[in-house]
Formats: sequence, structure tokens, C-alpha cells
Amino acid sequence: GAAVEVDISALKPGEKVTVEWRGKPVWIIKRSPEQLADLPKLDAQLADPKSERKPAELTPEYARNEHRSIKPEILVAVGICTHLGCSPTDKLQAGPQPSLPDDWKGGFLCPCHGSTFDMAGRVFKNKPAPDNLEVPPHMYLSETKLLIG
Ligand code: FES
Repeated sequence: GAAVEVDISALKPGEKVTVEWRGKPVWIIKRSPEQLADLPKLDAQLADPKSERKPAELTPEYARNEHRSIKPEILVAVGICTHLGCSPTDKLQAGPQPSLPDDWKGGFLCPCHGSTFDMAGRVFKNKPAPDNLEVPPHMYLSETKLLIG
């Protein structure tokens, strides 16, 4: 399939846009400084905090870091659960929310079997989903133009 160009100049901290690439939903999320600061604090609760598993398939080299992205604030991830392919719902705000721990820092909840992911698409331990959300191949054409694929 063709690569998809996305202008992210209007994206504000805490916001998400979804584009379609190869028939899959791709999320582009601008994380706030607070959300970025929370990422390292979650490592002990995650199944694969450094994205070391199946690196070539799910996390390109340039996203194998704490924030799983090229620019720290911008997450680009395929919005499909790595368990059985449901679409996780946004739980982007920190704080108590139904079906989530009271100290929730924000992220995603898969409605099918309850897998939870953080704001870098990293899966929490002891959840049905075996892996972090896929980071699709992507690059920046300019400060605000992203090419996915
Ligand atoms: Fe997401 Fe099963 S499909 S937890």
C-alpha cells in the first residue's frame, strides 16, 4: 500500500489523530511533558518496557527507546491490540477511570479482554496481549510532516 502523509502542525499536547494506512488505523499522539515524564516510572509494571521482543516486526530501530518514537513527544502506533486484533479505546487522561487502576497514568484499554497499554503503547504485565502496540515504519519529511509507510 501507498505511504500516507500527515500534517501534524495542529496537533496539541494530549491530542490524538487517526489515519488509515494499509487498512489499519494508525494513531498519532502528541504527549504532554507530564505524560513523557511518567513513562520511565512505569517500566516495572510493563511486560516489555524497552521493546526488546520481536524488534524488527513491532518496533523499528529508531523507536526502540523509552518513548518508542523518533520525536519524544509524538507517538505513532498501530491502533490494533496485539492479542486478537481488537481496537483499544483511548484512556488518555491520567487518574481513576472505570476498569483501570486508581493511579492510572493514561494510555489505552482493549475492551475485548482487558489488556492495558501506556502512553507509549507498551503493554502492562499479566495481560492477554503478548506485545507492545506496533510502531509502523515512518519518518519526518519536515518539522510537521510525517510520512507513514
Ligand atoms: Fe485485546 Fe484480547 S484482543 S485483549
